Amino acid sequence: MLSHLPKHADPRLLVGIETADDAGVYRLTDDLALVQTVDLFPPVVDDAYWFGAIAAANALSDVYAMGGKPLTALNIAGWPRDLDMDLLGEVLRGAADKLHEAGTTLVGGHSWEDEEPKFGLSVTGLIHPQRIVTNAGAEVGDALVLTKPLGMGVITTGAKNELAEPEALEEAMRIMAGLNAGAAEAMLAVGVHAATDVTGFGLLGHLREMTRGSGAGADLRAAAIPVLPEARRLAALGMIPGGSQRNLEALRADVAFGALSEVDQQLLADAQTSGGLLIAVAPHKLAELLERLQTAGTPVHSHIGEITAPREPSIQVLATPQQG
Ligand code: CO
Ligand code: CO
Repeated sequence: MLSHLPKHADPRLLVGIETADDAGVYRLTDDLALVQTVDLFPPVVDDAYWFGAIAAANALSDVYAMGGKPLTALNIAGWPRDLDMDLLGEVLRGAADKLHEAGTTLVGGHSWEDEEPKFGLSVTGLIHPQRIVTNAGAEVGDALVLTKPLGMGVITTGAKNELAEPEALEEAMRIMAGLNAGAAEAMLAVGVHAATDVTGFGLLGHLREMTRGSGAGADLRAAAIPVLPEARRLAALGMIPGGSQRNLEALRADVAFGALSEVDQQLLADAQTSGGLLIAVAPHKLAELLERLQTAGTPVHSHIGEITAPREPSIQVLATPQQG
């Protein structure tokens, strides 16, 4: 689809659409560049306030994933004529609280009449042109680190079918609404080779973008990958979102799953509305990164695998028997 777009040879465009990266980066001066991104989606949870907070955390995340600092934001909202406007007010309040937490200023927005509600934001940030972290810089031998557990798509689908435990849903909402700011600060302090945030394509889909962009492969250790326990329970009941099923189908040619169970395969491909950062770091910096992530209080700080030389299929999941 993106191949239909014209390619402009503007030397100030530092990160464009070629590497399927999280945000675009445009150089203003030798030591200053703009990071720009836009994201919107239909409600992922029933609670309007949480929906707004999660949408904002997700939109901000693409700036954090590149190592940028979010500066300003614009709201974008589609809203049905017959739906309570106070609910939209709650969505905006949830988003505003997140922007405040991020130190980001709301400068405006746009809304239109739509058949179903949609909400998101366009975020603009600043970054040093020499300190951009893309998804395309991973090197052979790098350790892969993840900062939020998987399973949010399964849990929100379970909640829509009234099968999710309320406490587990609340925990998932808190995790989704959590900013990736601390994770980004930690990776910038340590210096890493590559990063991306795990969102709609799931862990495996975003890892594939990273291996493709970096010309590499990857090994994942299934037992080291954090998954919310409620997600494993609900996945076994078949609560797999359509998007996650499509992710897995689209990944089959690029991933060797070995003996991994079908449910675990689904969980690794589960679409995360607002997941954590997936970071590739040189092995001698791994311990420092994990320590800084722990200090930053990220939901998890898990060493889940390694970047390898390029190969077919590019990603290999090493399955070990599940305990318990
Ligand atoms: Co992203
Ligand atoms: Co995005």
